[in-house]
Amino acid sequence: MQLTQEETSHSIQGIDLAELTEQFGSPLYVYDADVIRRKVTALQHAFSSVDMKMKYACKANTNLSILRLMRSIGVELDVVSPGELEIGMLAGYEAGQITFTPSGVPFYEVQEAVEKGAIVNVDSLPLLEWFGQTFGNTKPCLIRIKPNVAAGGNIKIMTAHADSKFGISVLLLDQILEVVKKYKIRVIGLHQHTGSDIKDAAPFLQVADILLDTARHFPDLEVIDLGGGFKVSYKPGDEITDMKLLGNKISERFQAFCKEYGRDLQLWFEPGKFLVSESGYLLVKTTVVKEDPARNFVHVDSGLNHLIRPMMYGAYHHILNISNPAGALKTYNVVGYICETDTFASDRELPEVRQGDVLAFLNAGAYGFTMSSNYNARQRPAEVMIDNGEAKLIRRRETMEDLLRTQLD
Ligand code: LLP
Repeated sequence: MQLTQEETSHSIQGIDLAELTEQFGSPLYVYDADVIRRKVTALQHAFSSVDMKMKYACKANTNLSILRLMRSIGVELDVVSPGELEIGMLAGYEAGQITFTPSGVPFYEVQEAVEKGAIVNVDSLPLLEWFGQTFGNTKPCLIRIKPNVAAGGNIKIMTAHADSKFGISVLLLDQILEVVKKYKIRVIGLHQHTGSDIKDAAPFLQVADILLDTARHFPDLEVIDLGGGFKVSYKPGDEITDMKLLGNKISERFQAFCKEYGRDLQLWFEPGKFLVSESGYLLVKTTVVKEDPARNFVHVDSGLNHLIRPMMYGAYHHILNISNPAGALKTYNVVGYICETDTFASDRELPEVRQGDVLAFLNAGAYGFTMSSNYNARQRPAEVMIDNGEAKLIRRRETMEDLLRTQLD
């Protein structure tokens, strides 16, 4: 199922994108609630033959309205910090519906999360030892295994290869089992997360096999958690993860494993991008069009402070000229207003861009706002959710006061 943002889409649920910037200002993050619902349904369909649960990796987008929407459609939560846990609970989640997947955090953060009722994904042997000493067999946990498989859109977002910092290497299984036995730790699940932007089924199957093989050594499991990482379409024509094929193949292996294990387990996924990326748009206004001898530059009223993916990963975000869709095509470098080389797109063909035109960056729903900053003392944008054909402000634009709030004279 190919769920992409339409290249020609200049409106969401009948609401014109350019009008949204008139109403709420620019730059502006906009999310289409229907897209999120469709993505959730697509994943449910792909894994309908097994007991599958989604734990939305909310680092992708922590807006409370998005979390509430997820909750209302039966999606649970994966968090990576006390802050995300708090936001999740504010959105109405019970702690028991939240998995805490830390990465080398101070142990007191784990203690607080566990005491609140969240389930932790233990990611190191020292943490496992501490967990045993602190909680013995009184609290359940999952263990995050590093399967030593390299997959993902680029090296920065691969998290399961041998050199990655994440999880406990599967090669240390004997030591894991020793600590579990010593403290009678209640390991109810095994977890792994391979990386982000993974298109092919092969790495997902490879890590599933490794995790299921490892699971044979743990008699009291209730859950196998395969993480997130499904690829979405950033570029027109991008191939994406074939969810139907992946669903069939993983479910088949999972069912065979449950039969052998003698118990029906739950299969968890932690998608971030897959659920929210395509729902989001970053709308910006063109500040200056500069016809330089070397290049045509389009400057916009945004930059790496609002959408850092192109600069950080060389990520492609499709751009629409909302104000002049039928203009003659010209080639531009689309750049920001930050005092750094913040290039959103190089040599990009766009309908002629004029000063004041509204541009839309697609696929801005995941790792857009959550990775934004106040660099150059710039305020973060407002956020709007479109649902039932209505646009609602779900985060106000920051003010200078917000920026100064923590500074002391
Ligand atoms: N589970 C764990 C433990 C993770 O670390 C992540 C993402 C996910 C699930 C969700 O992965 P997703 O389905 O979104 O691919 N900022 C980067 C992506 C980094 C993802 C970090 N961990 C980007 O914008 O491409």
